[in-house]
Order: sequence, then C-alpha cells, then structure tokens
Amino acid sequence: MEYQLVERISPDRLDSCLNSLAERINRDYSGKSLVLIGVLKGAFIFMADLARRLSIPVQMDFVRLASYGEKSETCGSVQITKDIELSVKGRHVLVVEDIVDTGITINFYLEHLKTHCPESVRVCALIDKSERRRVEVAVDYVGLSMDGFLVGYGLDFSEKHRNLPAIYEVIFENAAPEKKTLQEENDSCQCS
Ligand code: PRP
Repeated sequence: MEYQLVERISPDRLDSCLNSLAERINRDYSGKSLVLIGVLKGAFIFMADLARRLSIPVQMDFVRLASYGEKSETCGSVQITKDIELSVKGRHVLVVEDIVDTGITINFYLEHLKTHCPESVRVCALIDKSERRRVEVAVDYVGLSMDGFLVGYGLDFSEKHRNLPAIYEVIFENAAPEKKTLQEENDSCQCS
C-alpha cells in the first residue's frame, strides 16, 4: 500500500505542548506524589518526555491493553495483556495515553482501575480525537485536539514509524485527502 507522510506537529511544537502539560500537572499535584500509568505501546515516548518534565515525586508503571475489532477502530472488547505491578491503593494516579479516540479503551481501563482503590484517577492524552468518541470519557489533560491517521512520536501504522520525532499524517496515494485533516491551522493545541 503506497502512502506518504505529511508532518502535522513538529518536534518544536511537541516540545512546547509537553512543557505546558507538565506545568499544569506540576501545579495541580503540588505537594503530592503521583503514579503515572502509561498505556503501551503508543504512550511510551510521550510518557518518557512528560515524566522528565515533572518536578513532583512520580512512580511509573505500564499497562498493555489489547482491543479487538476492525483494525481502524476499537470495538467493545478490550483485554489487559499486561497489568501494572505497583500498588495504586490510596495513590493519585495519572493514566497517560497517546490517543483517546472512541474512548472505549480508556473507559474500560478506568473501570478496571477502580477495583485497585486509588485515591484519585485522571487521564492525560497527547491527542484527543473527541469528535470520534463513542463512549463518554473525561480527558483531564489534553495535548492536542486533532483528527486524521497519525503516526510518529509513539504512534504506529502496522508497528512502523513509532520512532519518528514529529507527528505525521498518513496520506494514501489515490485517496482524495480530506481538507480538514490537511489543515494544521485547524488543529487546536489545548496546552498553549
Ligand atoms: C491506540 C491508543 C489507545 C487506543 C485508543 O492503541 O494507544 O490505547 O488505541 O483507541 P480508542 O479510544 O478508540 O479505544 P492501539 O490499540 O493502536 O495500540 P498501540 O498503543 O500499541 O499502538
């Protein structure tokens, strides 16, 4: 399948977006400690860069969630294939996602987390595709609100391109690009 990658979010823009997110989180959790839970695989780069900007005490863990259904969209069936190893009982937890799309994956995991009795749970997503939501989910910290088939900075297309330092849109050849998804000026960075 032939496709091109078109840069949507530059490394500089990611940098300032993460600075703003970290500033808010440092302020909101001032005087507290936090457990960051990264959702594998997509969140691994975002969480690593976010964690290095946090000045509050943090512990880190990861969960791997597998969803089943069409490749392009999560369906209702989500399973935990690797759970966290830290105890979050009585702790403040921040779940770190690369993308919240339909909301099905994070909604499932938030329900599961309740059984671990944390003191509080919030969600931080680098990208929020809120227009595609199928279940209601509160995303407390949003880096970017944008749509399109995105890769880079942890996001993949068939496991490729996760290592790219910017965020790109996948444009398939012979497919008419949607006007909306090609206009970076329409993307709203929530954190600047
Ligand atoms: C992506 C993303 C979220 C989920 C969001 O994971 O990292 O976990 O999909 O989709 P939803 O809101 O529609 O449920 P993916 O299954 O692509 O796995 P990956 O993180 O390993 O790339």
